[in-house]
Amino acid sequence: MAGEESTASGRLPSFSTRLAFIIVTAGSAVGLGNIWGFTYVAGKNGGGGFVLIYLLALAFVAAPVFIAELLLGRMGKGSPPTALGNLQQQTGSRVPWPIVAWAGLVGTILVLSFYCVIAGQAIYYALVAAGGGFADWSFEQVAALDADFKANAPGMALWAAVFMGLTAAIVSLDIRAGIERAGKIMMPLLFLMLMGLVAYGAVYGDFMRAVTFLFGFHQMDLSVRVLLEAVGQAFFTLGIGVGGIMMYGAYSGRDVKVGSATAWIVAMDLFVALAAGLAIFPLVFASGVDAAAGPGLVFLTLPQVFTAIPGGAFVAFVFFLLLVFAAITSSISLLSPTVARLEEAGWRRPVAAGAMASLAFLVGLLTVMSFSDWSDIHPLAFLGLEGLTAFDLIREGVSNFVLPLSGLAYVLMIGWALRKDAVQKSLSMQDGTLFQFWHMAIRFIVPVAIIAMFLTALFG
Ligand code: PHE
Repeated sequence: MAGEESTASGRLPSFSTRLAFIIVTAGSAVGLGNIWGFTYVAGKNGGGGFVLIYLLALAFVAAPVFIAELLLGRMGKGSPPTALGNLQQQTGSRVPWPIVAWAGLVGTILVLSFYCVIAGQAIYYALVAAGGGFADWSFEQVAALDADFKANAPGMALWAAVFMGLTAAIVSLDIRAGIERAGKIMMPLLFLMLMGLVAYGAVYGDFMRAVTFLFGFHQMDLSVRVLLEAVGQAFFTLGIGVGGIMMYGAYSGRDVKVGSATAWIVAMDLFVALAAGLAIFPLVFASGVDAAAGPGLVFLTLPQVFTAIPGGAFVAFVFFLLLVFAAITSSISLLSPTVARLEEAGWRRPVAAGAMASLAFLVGLLTVMSFSDWSDIHPLAFLGLEGLTAFDLIREGVSNFVLPLSGLAYVLMIGWALRKDAVQKSLSMQDGTLFQFWHMAIRFIVPVAIIAMFLTALFG
């Protein structure tokens, strides 16, 4: 039913205020990537040097792409495939732009598929902590909790389903009553809890060592893989490359100033990642457990810390609740593009949300199995991708390949196909110099950086 064009902007809902747009979009950016992802990727790659590369990638590659993706939604006015279809028509280009958007929709489901499993574990841990868990436990008990959780595939699937259900319930509602209200409630609470945890880490943990770890220079191998991870992490953390940001761009009111809104959102996202590092690593160092623990850092290493500190159960509860809030404000942005596309095709919103959440859940069973019975199965080992489970392949494949390549397509569309004056108008960026710089960045710097990175990865 592709005939349903939603170009009539009157039919497209919008967020109620400029501030609402910023909060909700920051909610999409701030997620598991900031807390679970950033700390483990930075820990695994040795801290400081990685953080520096990540910052550069964030500022010069990911942030310009973020603006480009927002604008495509704002100018195209519709779900991602519709928005890109509209824009392609306007430019008269023969290249089928919507293909990029469809690939992005697949990407949203893939990200959701592992997101729900990890967020499900966070819900379960929050409940364990609420029941007084972790405090005074032995390390063995903590290890057993994680091991038992992962040995029980149906249990893991259940919690993933709970998380997808919550996400679908919020997305079922209208934009302002659902997505917007969730962001307005959860984001301030998230900041509050995070500040509390940083203060706690500063008082009870080895704060200076965490600071040196995150911002000091250490020996590291600057391999292409590290570079790919830093760029992949920068894209993932801003939530660009799958159409979630494009969707929110379509919902942005006319009064939103894209440049300054982006500055706020990127700043908040960075702030949360660094603050999460400053909340987690002081405790990790003070207790002597391993900072480079990898994906287990948040569910295995950190809970060991909670066993020994004052008020451990309460601190653990706050931490896991924070993780759940961060995850929900992101997962609703991941579910909304497919739901909007189905709505354009005449589906009712709750039905569309239920269907897409179920799909993401079903694909999520691959991650459930990767954590449990299939943890030794490496599906693409025959291609040289040894040691990677289905979960690893999905996570690394999406963030290191799908996101940067879609980002490349976005900047090429805006930089080379759309009219510069129309772009500037939609951006409502007052500062001409800043606009010129950004336009240069998306025409040259970003494409060259992304292409060079892939060429090095292929032939380096
Ligand atoms: N930005 C989110 C995070 O950091 C993840 C995300 C990816 C959200 C893609 C939307 C789109 O966890």
